[in-house]
Amino acid sequence: MNTDEQTGLVLDFFSPHFKEQAFSLYRDLRQQGAVHPVQLSADIPAWLVTRYDAALAALKDSRFIKDPRTLPEVEDFWLDETDLFSEHMLASDPPDHTRLRNLVHKAFTPRMIEEMEGRIREIANDLLDKLASSPNGRAELIDAYAFPLPILVISEMLGIPTEDRQRFRNWSTTLLAATNRPEKWEEIQPTMVEFQEYLGDLFEKRRSHPADDLISGLVHVEEEGNKLTSRELYSMVFLLIVAGHETTVNLIGNGILTLLQTPNQLALLRESPERIGSALEEILRYTSPVEMATNRWAAEEVSFFGQTIPKGGLVIVALGSANRDGNQFPQPDRFDITRQPNRHLAFGLGIHYCLGAPLARMEGKIAIPTLLDRFPNLALDFKGESLPWRQDFLMRGLTELPVRL
Ligand code: HEM
Repeated sequence: MNTDEQTGLVLDFFSPHFKEQAFSLYRDLRQQGAVHPVQLSADIPAWLVTRYDAALAALKDSRFIKDPRTLPEVEDFWLDETDLFSEHMLASDPPDHTRLRNLVHKAFTPRMIEEMEGRIREIANDLLDKLASSPNGRAELIDAYAFPLPILVISEMLGIPTEDRQRFRNWSTTLLAATNRPEKWEEIQPTMVEFQEYLGDLFEKRRSHPADDLISGLVHVEEEGNKLTSRELYSMVFLLIVAGHETTVNLIGNGILTLLQTPNQLALLRESPERIGSALEEILRYTSPVEMATNRWAAEEVSFFGQTIPKGGLVIVALGSANRDGNQFPQPDRFDITRQPNRHLAFGLGIHYCLGAPLARMEGKIAIPTLLDRFPNLALDFKGESLPWRQDFLMRGLTELPVRL
């Protein structure tokens, strides 16, 4: 950790080793304070929120807004990011946020998600049938299970041809890897254009042949004229695709990894499968599949937990750090599937609280126990010394998870 006297901590968020050391770095930071001036790549100043109480306050504070376009203090390059994919609810404030969220929230209520349980089970079992026939008794679980399950589910909900899922994966991984890295934005333009063209064609198809899916519904709302602009339609579908799978893949992958690394907790879950509810909450807390909340901007000068954040200042809530704060969670670095209470912030909080939380929980509660049931001898099969973490600002997840079945 370097400290630049003028600008605060220089944290190398994008180094291959950042994820490996993140939790011990956060522990040091929490000891020093709740909020820290830091440098992102390319000399971009930001305030990193590391303690639980401050994270909770920041997520609920309406002075930290999501759409920087109204703030002249915000550097222009952040506004350049304003492309066809940036007018979605997670980058909006009320009243736009409320309008956009209301258009889709019904599809994600716990009741709607319960109706999908059977189909999610079927998808999990189909994927595991294929795994079971692996000739050498080995498998790579990210590619074979953790990724396809959520992308198949969200594709079916949206009405996207499931055979195109590998293309989505490539596009969304490329775009996500450029989060908060302006030096990468030119490089990802071709990917952006390909993704946009694909969605444009899909919208056309659903316009002429509507089906019983979310995209057909949204295309219809856009046509009506006053509730959803064309740019918002692109952004909404982009957000649902990316948030719908890039997150849950990490929940499943990190969950399996952590259980296999903690044999007593794995044994406890195998003995009492009814503990899956609290086990899943502990996986969410302990592994924070979304490690950082998305960017927030101070709409005015804000005095916050000992720091003065200027108007236009960029605020980043480190959810992964808040979830390991010993003032909120006794023995925070202990993975304990019986932990109660467990008010983690893995899904955020406030008006941007994860819309897909009921879906993610349902997917996790099916994916993890089904895998454990089918493979009683499941074991990790890593070769190298360090784990292959994705280099991604927002997400915390593995690029691969090799196992013996
Ligand atoms: C384990 C899986 C998941 C985790 C950990 C997660 C985490 C989060 C977090 C932390 C936020 C708030 C970010 C912020 O305030 O900056 C969020 C928002 C959101 N999530 Fe999730 N998510 C997950 C799965 C899903 C799924 C399956 C969907 C389905 C489409 C989804 C859709 C959304 C949407 C649309 C928002 C924006 C809500 C708003 O702005 O009002 N998420 N998620």
